[in-house]
Amino acid sequence: MSVTSSVISLFLFLSLINNFSKCCIEAPYFGAPHLFQVTPPVDHAEGPTWDSRKDILYFVDIHAGDIYSLKFLTGELDSIHLNGEVTPVIPSKTDPEILIVGVDRNVVAVEWNGKSKFYRTKLLTTVSKQFPTSRFNDGKADKQGRLWFGTMGFEDSRGVTPNQGVLYKITRENLDDPEVMVAPVNISNGLTWNYANDKFYYIDTPTRKIVEYDYDDEKGAITNGRVVFDLALYDAIKGNPDGMTIDRDDNLWIALYGGWAVIKVDPRTGHLLQVVSIPAEAVTSVMWGGPNMDLLFVTTSRTSLSQEQRLRQPLAGSVFALAGLGTSGWQVFDADIVDKI
Ligand SMILES: *[C@@H]1O[C@H](CO)[C@@H](O)[C@H](O)[C@H]1NC(C)=O
Repeated sequence: MSVTSSVISLFLFLSLINNFSKCCIEAPYFGAPHLFQVTPPVDHAEGPTWDSRKDILYFVDIHAGDIYSLKFLTGELDSIHLNGEVTPVIPSKTDPEILIVGVDRNVVAVEWNGKSKFYRTKLLTTVSKQFPTSRFNDGKADKQGRLWFGTMGFEDSRGVTPNQGVLYKITRENLDDPEVMVAPVNISNGLTWNYANDKFYYIDTPTRKIVEYDYDDEKGAITNGRVVFDLALYDAIKGNPDGMTIDRDDNLWIALYGGWAVIKVDPRTGHLLQVVSIPAEAVTSVMWGGPNMDLLFVTTSRTSLSQEQRLRQPLAGSVFALAGLGTSGWQVFDADIVDKI
């Protein structure tokens, strides 16, 4: 099935749900999630982010250095190529055509309309000069538009250079010397805030744990870190936690790298609520989007698969959308770090 036709079938499905929901106070919960492939495979899809101003899903192909924009309403997919490892990508508050992008250890503003091959860049800052082979990994903007971007040590087939990851908070004022929020870590990864914006959730992948902090939005401060979920307690669950988001009920959704699944976790009880299978073992990240914010976009990777595994997982590296999860999310925050470039 072509990408366009799978997007069309996704629309038919969604309009069906919307027609049902007109009759009721609450949209019915269909129980079984539906999975749609929304892009062809790339090497290592990561960092999905939804911009409801343009109905665009951005994501990156990290090692290829590519930024993609999926125009959700038409299924059109465009990309640009930067020099370096590219992640994350965060649209700007004042101008949706300025994307704030991690490129190796650099924070770069990229002016791109999401369509053409032309773009302009401006270097904003470089972090972790003491770890020259480290690079940015996951990141988001907070409600004030500050960047929370984390890094990880150099990775090859033997693993990741340990203790070289740092989670930074980057603001307009501290571009020359971004603030260290968590260090050292091994692989700085998924992060999100609860709806009340007084809790912050964070993943250092090899720990297999989710840590919750108290969050002060005015100061941009995190305190009292404590473990709220530990994958080691669930024998049947494989893989390590990677990207993460949160739903309108304040439950966490976590991509499992090496786990063939996305999981739903209640951070208040530490309970595993749901396991949703994905037809690729390396699930990298999750993000709510779509016109009703009720599709969970899921990125996957094939970069570390053998030839034989690639044959068995032909969809690995695709972006998927999960519909019918019975919940939805919020539009993520935009970066507020530059106005013009
Ligand atoms: C990073 O990984 C190394 C090797 O597994 C481990 O010894 C170290 O404690 C980890 N660092 C952190 C901050 O968890």
